[in-house]
Amino acid sequence: MLTDNITRRSDGTLCFAGQSVPELAGRYGTPLYLMDEDRIRANCRMYREAFRAHFGDGALPLYASKAACFKQMYRIVAEEGLGVDCVSVGEIHTALQAGFPAEKIYYHGDGKTDADIAYALAQGVGCFVVDNGNELITLEEEAAARGIRQKILLRITPGIDPHTYQAVNTGAVDVKFGVPVETGQAMEFVRAALSMEHVEVAGLHCHVGSMVFGEDVYQRTIDIMLAFMREVKDELGLELDELNLGGGYGVRYEESDPAIDIPARLGEVAANLKKRTAEYGLRLPRFLMEPGRSIVADAGMTVYTVCSVKRIPGYKSYAIVDGGMADNPRYCLYGSRYTVLHAQRSGGLRAIFDLAGRACESGDIIQPAISLPNNTARGDLVAVCTTGAYNYAMASHYNRLPKPPVVMLHGGESYVAVRRETIEDVCAMDV
Ligand code: LLP
Repeated sequence: MLTDNITRRSDGTLCFAGQSVPELAGRYGTPLYLMDEDRIRANCRMYREAFRAHFGDGALPLYASKAACFKQMYRIVAEEGLGVDCVSVGEIHTALQAGFPAEKIYYHGDGKTDADIAYALAQGVGCFVVDNGNELITLEEEAAARGIRQKILLRITPGIDPHTYQAVNTGAVDVKFGVPVETGQAMEFVRAALSMEHVEVAGLHCHVGSMVFGEDVYQRTIDIMLAFMREVKDELGLELDELNLGGGYGVRYEESDPAIDIPARLGEVAANLKKRTAEYGLRLPRFLMEPGRSIVADAGMTVYTVCSVKRIPGYKSYAIVDGGMADNPRYCLYGSRYTVLHAQRSGGLRAIFDLAGRACESGDIIQPAISLPNNTARGDLVAVCTTGAYNYAMASHYNRLPKPPVVMLHGGESYVAVRRETIEDVCAMDV
């Protein structure tokens, strides 16, 4: 199987985190997001331990909470000792409501409004990751008005193309995020921040992309960021204390995807970091990263009920389910691949289907050309694997479809972390 939390009983019943998927579907209904809490915790621990082993005590992984954001996620992450990356007031509010410590929140975003900045300052958010000069000026004014000095990181664009898909490539020179090194603007950005009294420049941030598999991407990023830190020291006399390398490690959606040994990769990153700091005569900075997908993706599975099977002779067949682009827009947006499994049987004659959703447009495909038992019929259950990242988080109400619940699986038990929406919930804002 794709990951070791997906198994099948001898009678063909699909299990996730050791629990029967048809039983869970019977109890909670479909469409249904399942999340393997034990896997989330194991992934958090993997990062914590690798950080401790390779980067020393101060190093901290921050969970990029945009990947899966609801209160219980923040509670789990807090218990596992990680910080979080939040990208909006909504994420910060969710974190605080869950009791997440404000000082361990890093606040991102390239378009923070005055109100956003004021809110985050009022809540005592630990660190702003400042994206650009406009934000810097407003933050300085707002912090001055409150008589405080706000810790910040400056988001720098290292000019690296990580060869991932375009929509998630965030490190190249001309992306909308951060301030580029190549044009000389990054140095001016640091200079401007240092001239301000109410911000404390702790260090630099960068993020080169998501679904990164390239061995050398983070090494090249370290090379550029450390060279820039050395220039900052030479030109401005400041030695920066913190380096945040963003998120991005890719995960396996299909059997054919490579598996990344993240602790081993982090070991290589640490070795390069130590080499470059020694070469440039810099102190080893406190090291941070912001993994999102690699913490939650393989902890997720979405379960659907087949509503219709449609065969168009000479063309193709569809299995149409009770969910779709509203709960998983990733194939529509990025052409993302997924592994799809029948949840009740695996053997017998098979056929190729497009797994289609129930939204009223022909582009609503969850995954094209998947293999299912040929006798797949209305009422059967199918499971889409590895949906823990950017599925619930990106769900919409398109076609006024209520969002599915998120059910957590933990130690052989299950519980609701986000309840199923009703039609009334969907209509609640209408006047
Ligand atoms: N840090 C920053 C500043 C980011 O922009 C992101 C992701 C992360 C960390 C976490 O990256 P991860 O470890 O999850 O790759 N919706 C897209 C992914 C968008 C990623 C946006 N930024 C998808 O469904 O594939």
